[in-house]
Amino acid sequence: MNLAEENMISALSEQEITEIEEEISHLPNRQSAAIDALKIVQGYRGWISDESLIAIAKILQMSTEELDGIATFYNLIFRYPVGEKVVLFCDSVSCWLMDGDKVCAAIKRKLKIDYGETTSDGKYTLLPVTCLGDCDHAPAMMIGEELHHDLDAANVAQLFDEPGEKAS
Ligand code: FES
Repeated sequence: MNLAEENMISALSEQEITEIEEEISHLPNRQSAAIDALKIVQGYRGWISDESLIAIAKILQMSTEELDGIATFYNLIFRYPVGEKVVLFCDSVSCWLMDGDKVCAAIKRKLKIDYGETTSDGKYTLLPVTCLGDCDHAPAMMIGEELHHDLDAANVAQLFDEPGEKAS
C-alpha cells in the first residue's frame, strides 16, 4: 500500500478499521463486507462522506465507483448529512390506500420540510422508503429506530418534538 492509500484510509478511525477488518474476517472475500463496512462507519458518523467512501473502498480493495453504487442502491446508507433522527415514511401501495399521502402531508407541515430535507434544528430528516413490512397496520413509518403504524393525519404531528425541544 502506498502513502496516498494509507492517507486515504486514515480518514477512518482505528476503531472503524478494526470493526471492518473483523467483518471481513468472517467472509469469503473483502468485497462481501461492503454493506457492513458502510453501516459501521455510518454508525459513528451518521452518514458516508466522499472521504469515508474512498477510505472504505481502499480497505475492501474495490473501486470507489463500485462501492458508491452499493451505497446509493441501499437506501439506509446516507451519502449526505442527515438529522439526529431519520424519518422513513412508507411510500408503497398499502400505505397509499390508507391515506398515507394525507399523513405524510401532515408530517411535512409539522416539520416544515419536504422529502430529502432536514429540519432547521437538525433534528429530523424525512425520506420516503419502500414497504416497511407493516402493511396490516398502514400507514407506517420509522422515526429513528422506532416503528409507528396505524398513523392518522389528525394526530401524527404529536409524534414529533416541537422545534427547539430536546429529542426524547
Ligand atoms: S405498504 Fe406501507 S408498510 Fe407495507
